[in-house]
Amino acid sequence: MQSEEIRRRFLTFFEKRGHVVIPSASLVPENDSSVLFTTAGMQPLVPYLLGKKHPQGRRLVNIQKCVRTQDINEVGDNTHDTFFEMLGNWSLGDYFKEEAIQWSYELLTNREEGFGLDPKRLYITVFEGDENAPKDEEAFQIWQNYMPKNHIFFMGAKSNWWSVGENGPCGPDTEMFYDVTSSGLGDLTKKEYEKADAEQKVVEVWNDVFMEYEKKDGQITNKLSQRNVDTGAGLERLTMALQKKNNIFNTDLFISLISVLDKFTSDNIRSKRIIVDHIRTSVFMIADGVLPSNTGRGYILRRLLRRAYVHVRKIEGDFKTVISVVNAVVSHESYKGLYAFNSETEEIISMEISKFGKTLESGLKQFDKGVDPFILFTSYGFPIELTEELAREKGITINRAVFDKEMRKHRTLSRSGGERKFKR
Ligand code: GLY
Repeated sequence: MQSEEIRRRFLTFFEKRGHVVIPSASLVPENDSSVLFTTAGMQPLVPYLLGKKHPQGRRLVNIQKCVRTQDINEVGDNTHDTFFEMLGNWSLGDYFKEEAIQWSYELLTNREEGFGLDPKRLYITVFEGDENAPKDEEAFQIWQNYMPKNHIFFMGAKSNWWSVGENGPCGPDTEMFYDVTSSGLGDLTKKEYEKADAEQKVVEVWNDVFMEYEKKDGQITNKLSQRNVDTGAGLERLTMALQKKNNIFNTDLFISLISVLDKFTSDNIRSKRIIVDHIRTSVFMIADGVLPSNTGRGYILRRLLRRAYVHVRKIEGDFKTVISVVNAVVSHESYKGLYAFNSETEEIISMEISKFGKTLESGLKQFDKGVDPFILFTSYGFPIELTEELAREKGITINRAVFDKEMRKHRTLSRSGGERKFKR
C-alpha cells in the first residue's frame, strides 16, 4: 500500500464515522510564539481541546505536517526523522475510550476499509497509573474485546502519558506497536517486548491519548471540562509496517530520495539517511515561510542544512548532490497535489549551502587544530550543535556553558553597535 493510499484510507475511515477532514496547519504555529514548530496534530487544536467550540464540530480528522528536532541525533537509525506527517483523529468532548480503541483496532487490522495489519503482530500498552491519574483499567478492558491479554502491557507515565510541553491539555494514552521483523517474533513477554522496542523490532504505529487533564507549569492541576481523544499515527512508521520494511527509509516516502545517493559507493548509511531527512525537512520548512538565519526557526533550518552538507561531504558528494535531493523532494509523487512548495526553494538552499561550503573545509581544519567553538561559529558558520557532534565523534566534550556565555557577550556587543558582527 502506497503512502497516498494510507492517507486516503485514514481520512475516509474517519469521515465515514462522522469526522470532518480539516487541512494541515502550517509548520509554523499561528498564534503561539512559545513553540518553534508544529510538533503534533493536536497542537493547532489546543484551544478546542480546552473547551472552545470548533467551527467544524466535535469530530475531526487530518494529516498534519510536523517537525520534531529533539531526537535529531537519533536520525540515521531505522525510525527517526525530523519531519513527518501525523495522521490524527479527534473527539472534542464527544466519544471516548470505547470508540477510539475500537476504531484504532479496526482501522489497523481490517482489510477492506483499513490497513489489514496482522493482529498477531500487534502489541498494546496502557497507562499503569500514578499519583496524577489511576491505572487505566477501562482501556485495558476495552482492548480485551480485540486483543489477547498477553499482548497488552501496563506502562508508566514516561511512555504512556502525553502532553505537549509544560502547559496545556494532557492525559494517559494507549499505544499500538507492530512487530516489523521479517519472520515475526512470536508472542513476546513484557520484558521481551521492551527489548524488541529498544531494538526497533517492534515499532509504535499509533497512539490514542485520552485527554482529560490539564497541566500548568509542569504540574497536572485539574480535569478539563470535557473528555477528549487525540490520536497520532506517524505516516512514515505506519507506512514502514504496511510496506513490510524494517526502516522508514525503504518506504515509498523515502526511497526516491535515498536512491539519489545510490551513485555514492560509501556504505555510510547513516549519513545518507541524515542527508535525505534533513533536506526533506528543510524543504517543508521553507514551504511554510522559514528562511535560514541565526535565530529561532531560521537557526533550526540553518542547522539542518549545514549538518546535511557535512554529511554530503562525508559520502563525497557536493553541492549538486544537495540540489538533486531537493528536486526529488519537490517532485515526490506522494506530495503532488497535497503540499505546495516554495518556488524559490532551490535558490534559498543553494545560497545557504554555497555560503557554508566556502568555509566548511577551512573550518574543519581549524576544528582539527582545536579552535574554540565560538570562533567556529562566528567565523566559519559552524552551528554549535555541529561542533558538539564533531567533537563527540572524537571523544571530546565541548563546554557549552562557556560557549553560551561568549555568545551572550557577543550578542550584546553586536546589538550595541560593537565591531564584532556575525559573519554568517
Ligand atoms: N497524539 C499525540 C502524539 O502522538 O503526538
